[in-house]
Amino acid sequence: MNIKFLNLGMQPLANEYPSFVTKKQKKYNLNICFNTKNKVVSISKRMRSEKMFNQKYPYRSSMSKTMKDSFKKLSRDIIKRFNPNLTLEIGSNDGALITNLNKKRVIGIEPCSNLAAITKKKGFMTYDEYWNFNLAKKLKKKHGLIDLIYSANTLTHISNLDEVFKSVNYLLNKNGILIIEDPSLLECIKNNAYDQFYNEHVYVFSALALRNILKKFNMDIFDIQKLKTHGGSLRYFIKKKQNNKIKISNKVFKQFIAEKRFGLEKLSTFKKFALNVKSSKKNLLKIFEKLKEKNKSVVGYGATAKAVTILNYCKIDNKFIKFFLDTTPEKQNKLLPGTNIRIYKYSKKKLSKENFIFLGAWNFKNEIFKKEKKFIKMGGKFLTHIPKPKIL
Ligand code: TMP
Repeated sequence: MNIKFLNLGMQPLANEYPSFVTKKQKKYNLNICFNTKNKVVSISKRMRSEKMFNQKYPYRSSMSKTMKDSFKKLSRDIIKRFNPNLTLEIGSNDGALITNLNKKRVIGIEPCSNLAAITKKKGFMTYDEYWNFNLAKKLKKKHGLIDLIYSANTLTHISNLDEVFKSVNYLLNKNGILIIEDPSLLECIKNNAYDQFYNEHVYVFSALALRNILKKFNMDIFDIQKLKTHGGSLRYFIKKKQNNKIKISNKVFKQFIAEKRFGLEKLSTFKKFALNVKSSKKNLLKIFEKLKEKNKSVVGYGATAKAVTILNYCKIDNKFIKFFLDTTPEKQNKLLPGTNIRIYKYSKKKLSKENFIFLGAWNFKNEIFKKEKKFIKMGGKFLTHIPKPKIL
């Protein structure tokens, strides 16, 4: 049974950046649920994929050095550890991973045609289609079975998990490997990172929930890596049950135990989280109000989908934040959804007269601190809500 435990209020589509100030942007109630049977945490209202992932999708994986470095390292590790003949990435975005691999031995799947065009142009085989069983059938006919399927921050965006894993299972070689990485539910709850929830993130997985989903498809998690990306992610290495050459690592059992100990199988844990979220909202608003009273300027750094959740939930708009800066061309000169806060092209100069930076991209805090040494030296300060609202 799906039980709602958190209401994050009315939220616009997180990646629909309006060009003009408007009060008319469509919003949807964002509720988060816990499934008492399979322990899956998800949002209650699912949008049609076409509404969110289309030819105008503004999110680019290559916009941060942290992500680029992480994908570069992974591509080296994949070759060393598994040496696949043919790799497929579901959600290849602008090619942050696939462009590190041999063009002849990798296929990208990216339904956002503006992004698929980037890798196509570089000569990488890219299908601008949604991941589903029909596509899996088409790929099998054309390329045969796949040795390694990889997907980062994508499968959690697809509502029909049955179809997702049925298609993966169908296309994967019997000794094939599936690697998926996504924000960890354990880290999300520990950090009070309620902004991991937005209308694109249908699910935030725990290892326990993923294990329950995979059972149906006779697949097992055999290894887990903890990653710092996206505020704490897990990279799951998955095999078909029938492949008993691969042993299941202790790290997998350790993760299950840690999640059980924390209470990720219990509704009460999520109810407590919901209370923490409410108090986080109150305290963040208090800080913004105080800064406004003192006439301190606050600008946003990283016009993220996460920032959309926080600011719409806390009702923080252009009265509190002067503007956002972002390196993504697709977001620049637009407005942060639901807030009417203008987004400008990132430049150090734009920060020189400002007092506070609100970390929209708190998950890249270290990268940003390194980049903004001058701002810090000039007395500039940072404001975040992770794990608690505070000035850093
Ligand atoms: P994400 O947290 O959803 O991955 O989005 C990160 C956003 O932050 C993306 O729009 C790029 C932006 N960003 C900057 O503008 N400057 C930076 O230094 C970093 C690390 C990210």
